[in-house]
Amino acid sequence: MAPELPNSGSIDRAAMFDARVERWYDDLHAGLVQVYGPRRADSIAADLLQVARSAYDERPDHLHRRDLQRILEPDWLQDPRMLGYAAYTERFGTDLNGVAGHIDYLRDLGVTYLHLMPLLQPREGDNDGGYAVADYRAVRSDLGTMADLESLAGSLHSAGMSLVLDLVLNHVAREHEWAQKARAGEKKYRDYFYVYRNRREPNAYEASLPEVFPDFAPGNFTWDEDLRGWVWTTFNEWQWDVNWSNPNVLHEYVEIILALANQGVDVFRLDAIAFIWKRKGTDCQGQPEVHALTQVLRAVARIACPSVAFKAEAIVAPTKLLPYLGQGTHAGKVSDLAYHNSLMVQIWSMLAARDVRLAVHALSKLPPKPTTATWLTYLRCHDDIGWAIMDEDAAELGISGQAHRRFLAHWYAGDFDGSPASGLVFQYNPVNDDRRTSGTTASLLGLDSATTKAEVERAVAALRLAHALILGWGGVPVIWSGDELGQSNDAAWAQEPGHEDDNRWAHRPRLDWWRAASRHDSGTVGGRVYQDLRGLVQARSRLPHLHASVETELGPVDDPGVLVTVRRHPAGRFVGLYNVTPEHRHWPGHRAHHYGVDALSDAITGEPLQWNEYGDVVLQPYQVLWLAELRN
Ligand code: GLC
Repeated sequence: MAPELPNSGSIDRAAMFDARVERWYDDLHAGLVQVYGPRRADSIAADLLQVARSAYDERPDHLHRRDLQRILEPDWLQDPRMLGYAAYTERFGTDLNGVAGHIDYLRDLGVTYLHLMPLLQPREGDNDGGYAVADYRAVRSDLGTMADLESLAGSLHSAGMSLVLDLVLNHVAREHEWAQKARAGEKKYRDYFYVYRNRREPNAYEASLPEVFPDFAPGNFTWDEDLRGWVWTTFNEWQWDVNWSNPNVLHEYVEIILALANQGVDVFRLDAIAFIWKRKGTDCQGQPEVHALTQVLRAVARIACPSVAFKAEAIVAPTKLLPYLGQGTHAGKVSDLAYHNSLMVQIWSMLAARDVRLAVHALSKLPPKPTTATWLTYLRCHDDIGWAIMDEDAAELGISGQAHRRFLAHWYAGDFDGSPASGLVFQYNPVNDDRRTSGTTASLLGLDSATTKAEVERAVAALRLAHALILGWGGVPVIWSGDELGQSNDAAWAQEPGHEDDNRWAHRPRLDWWRAASRHDSGTVGGRVYQDLRGLVQARSRLPHLHASVETELGPVDDPGVLVTVRRHPAGRFVGLYNVTPEHRHWPGHRAHHYGVDALSDAITGEPLQWNEYGDVVLQPYQVLWLAELRN
């Protein structure tokens, strides 16, 4: 604890603002030049700085203090004590005040980062789980008010947690004010969208565009009678893509971001960020302008509210992932966090195939991320799992990418011989035979279908292993609500109006507070899962080796059933051993000396390692071992 010192006087606010402009202006300007050209960049920059200045002036004192603290701790997201949790407000705590009432529950698990799913005012009726926003300035009325959001942010901050919200910036609801004005014939607002009078342009784009929801929202354009035109709708027909080539759109979103930041939002999840720039002849994802625009948004936020971070939601192929954390001129200047979608897919692939070779091959090929950027590691989120296995990675190992993807979809749907999973097929696309998967972690790992004690044990051990993989990687692991208790699919998912054709609702169950009440009782299955996870969280928080600035390397495959991760941190070496099979496996003991970890016990449980007569470390079915050595 620092000693109490007399207050050393107030900070000169204007000087602070100017210093930040000096620090971030070049990033802001360079991003604008790339998107809008050198002629317009100066005036757009001046306009955005004006917006930043007003937001800065209005920012409450306690948030200015938070800004200062985070300037002093720029790696706050990389700390091994960071643990994320994601939930729907109403499914976790009924409303915002209810969430505040469950802060102790989150604290007990060690949560420091709470992502509440979209909670701004959506359109009425089906709204894609809140991703069709009708008003960014209001909280969904059944969840509370802006004042409740601000007060929740304050309570979370006092409990050492950050608040994470979605920023849906690729589209708005058809009912949003901008869309309404466009429909009423206002040219200014029609230019906020991509509207075409006939099919000529849409057809030209469609030639190279994939479909996100081929099942319930085929195609990427929707005829709108009021507009008398085709409007771009990548997702559902009532989600209108906004036109970021129009600087007025940029201005609007900057205002929205800074207003929410002033309520206490710490991290913005940039929803569907890959899609915000369109270019004919491409799949219109991850275009260079996407990264330039992210750089602009981040530079403005660093100036007005530097405690705020950005998280890219780019669920793209592994080769396309890195630019979201910054590559080339954008290195270290775009999102602070990005979903490690490839790791997530490879974890599920290893567990189904009981073989780590493809994962090691594919993950080792990823170029390093900037040391200041951080992966978000996860097993499940509110979305389906898309089987992003690259054909080329599979072919290099002599297997067919398509066959493996099909295997994974069938395995997790439980219709493959020997599979204990009970997931669901999401968005089967007969054109390319693509199948994605819905289901909670417990359901996918066979906890639901387990009837014998041995099957339950196996599923619980697999769950612990899966959680260990995301906790031992380095980054912010995010637990999807209910997974900490091993909750299964919501059997009644289709009964809610608007949900019937979207089985992602199966893995978005309401938190089972009965199950939660016995989370400290290891006699219950929920308690076992919870205690296992909590043990991992606590072990992780003691291991500086897991600071996210350091890359995870993958060790050589001695046994195809054992994944070996190595972290060479200046504080000391770390080796993670993960047996992804339900059988006993081994790891050659001489490797431990090679990596410089002579630890004879597991850093999670403190228990000694088991050796066989050949000098191999013995791994129990689905066992994980963390070996960590601290340098003197
Ligand atoms: C993101 C969300 C997904 C939503 C889509 C459109 O991918 O995670 O749930 O359907 O964006 O907003």
